[in-house]
Amino acid sequence: MSNDEFPTDRPAVVTCGLPYANGDLHIGHLRGYIGADAFNRALQTLGQQSAYVCGSDMHGTPVAVNAEQEGVEPEEFALEWHEQYEETFPQFNVEFDNYGHTHDETNTELTQEIVRELDKEGYIYEKEIQVAYDPDADQYLPDRYVEGTCPYCGEKARGDECDEGCQRHLEPGEVEDPTSTITGNPAEYRERTHKFFEVSEFADFLTEFLDGLEGTSNARNQPRQWIEDGLQDWCLTRDMEWGIDYPGEEERDIVLYVWVDAPIEYIASTKQHSERVGKDEYDWEQVWKDEGDIVHVIGRDIIQHHTIFWPAMLEGAGYNKPRGIAATGFITINGKGLSTSRNRAIWAKEYLDEGFHPDLLRYYLTTTGGLQQDVDFSWDAFQEKVNGELVGTVGNFWYRSLLFAYRNYEGTPETDVSEEVLARIEGAIDDVRESVNEYDLRGIGQAATQLAQYGNEYIQRNEPWKLTDEEPETAAQVIRDCVQIAKAVGVLLEPITPDKAQALWEQLGEDGAVADAHLEAALEAPPRTFEEPGELFEKIEDDRVAELNEKLAERVAAASDDDDEGADAETESDDTAAGEASDMADIDDLEPLAEDRIGFEDFQELDIRVGRIESAEGIEDADDLARLEVDIGFETRQVVAGIKQLHDLEELPGEKCILLANMEPAELFGVESNGMILAAGEEADLLTTHGDAEVGTKVQ
Ligand code: 2FM
Ligand code: ZN
Repeated sequence: MSNDEFPTDRPAVVTCGLPYANGDLHIGHLRGYIGADAFNRALQTLGQQSAYVCGSDMHGTPVAVNAEQEGVEPEEFALEWHEQYEETFPQFNVEFDNYGHTHDETNTELTQEIVRELDKEGYIYEKEIQVAYDPDADQYLPDRYVEGTCPYCGEKARGDECDEGCQRHLEPGEVEDPTSTITGNPAEYRERTHKFFEVSEFADFLTEFLDGLEGTSNARNQPRQWIEDGLQDWCLTRDMEWGIDYPGEEERDIVLYVWVDAPIEYIASTKQHSERVGKDEYDWEQVWKDEGDIVHVIGRDIIQHHTIFWPAMLEGAGYNKPRGIAATGFITINGKGLSTSRNRAIWAKEYLDEGFHPDLLRYYLTTTGGLQQDVDFSWDAFQEKVNGELVGTVGNFWYRSLLFAYRNYEGTPETDVSEEVLARIEGAIDDVRESVNEYDLRGIGQAATQLAQYGNEYIQRNEPWKLTDEEPETAAQVIRDCVQIAKAVGVLLEPITPDKAQALWEQLGEDGAVADAHLEAALEAPPRTFEEPGELFEKIEDDRVAELNEKLAERVAAASDDDDEGADAETESDDTAAGEASDMADIDDLEPLAEDRIGFEDFQELDIRVGRIESAEGIEDADDLARLEVDIGFETRQVVAGIKQLHDLEELPGEKCILLANMEPAELFGVESNGMILAAGEEADLLTTHGDAEVGTKVQ
């Protein structure tokens, strides 16, 4: 796989983690699908041939368990959700070139073909293992039918994933103290024969693969650690009926583990796209078998599946490997973990029913934080971003420039764009190109918004309204420049806000679709004349936000009342991949409160300061440690913190933190640590300030 800059002369495919067809879509899902859609559109604006494919994840216990609770057959249940997703995605301008599902013929055949190939190559073997079983239900308990404790981090875990803790995949039999989710009884173990894939054989290949992998740093760093710890082989089959049959073993009551056929849908969906448009236009085999640029956008909870199991399967079966994997952070709501069972979520349908334009949410989700950061959603923050950046900066600039141009020149004044403005637009184009190559969606949005900001300053600085009579040529020049900037902002913003960019395109009198334009179109003159423009963004009023906050608070409260009444046990739809984070630790899992009290004087002995991280880098040879330079007002401190695996170090510079400044110096891995950064919990959630406390301020 070559790492040539985008655009390349190879076809690309962008995919997004398949949603389990088992429940309503919410903002956590949308972050990924919108992000991948924006990335695919951005690649195309660079001139890259690219397709965006996905599909519903129909199999496995996430679907079977929920279908059972509804008393419906899994196939019928999953197909219904699949159809809903097909309708919902376009409403957010998420335009897949193909949206299939894992139960269709293409995926079933391709999955069986790939498994046969792995078998033929000698990577699959049989082994007798202990499998959880519920005697009362008379049923084996694969994956979500069993719960227990994660053997790696001690958190509560599902049978196949440590969803509330370290996010690791767990093999059958690994979860400790297993209980059946059907009856709540402790599970028994029974011996069964299952198929295993020799992932351990691929350690060297995977190390090399990760060295060349692009995307977000979390997708490279976490798996390196897992490889170092030693790879286990992967159980490929499950004792259940719903799923794809293991080829050649159709008479046995086993099916392939859902994580085998799910990623294969990336290929199957590309194939379906290729078959529809014709191989001459887009050749799936070129992408997956010859030379293509494969980019996966996923939630950070499914890094292991995409950076270990999936590339090993691809390598074993002779397919191309991904070039880039971008793993997004989670979504929180009002600073708390999104929780479907507590109804603390913004549902896709609800957002649309409130009458908000999808592009507003697209802009919020892609530009609020870096791709791998957690992003908080609140209606207040949404209002602030929309009113400030889209209404105040972009919309305001578009409208005032085009209206002035229309009223005074009936369109674009007939003169060339000034050198200054051309150079500024070229700079913004370069920023977008660079952002795409760095998988930085926020950078794309910022390049466009900052260009609009420049446009506002430019028009304000030159005051063309004062020049029309006295200096008509200068006035025309200023407006010519502004119309060009407006068009450029539209072209650059298209991946993020496609509808609004198209509306601007049409206001400028341009033909066709802005989505088909490349970045260079930002430098091409718009048509000479255009019609009177309208405003493209609308302010969100305070009373609207108050109303939305109230609705959200009411339904969260209603859901917790239900909980208190001991209604149904939680039946969360699966959305961990889509970014569901729980903010409520189980009391039993918390460290007990200290019994001994300390006096205020003791507390005062701690010199805790507000700091700003200036740099952060991993310490060589230390698995978990990072070296940070922290400005604490009086001086810059070097500290060592155990956050190498837990944070994207590149994202930390500039962040405020809290530092215990009078900690005794210590030396770790030969690096002096002169202070201690404060962080909460196993995941080292870094403490910061809520307001504007300046660097150096004492915490008291
Ligand atoms: O975790 C999930 O939600 C899975 N449905 C994601 C599958 S992604 C891929 F591999 F297909
Ligand atoms: Zn764990």
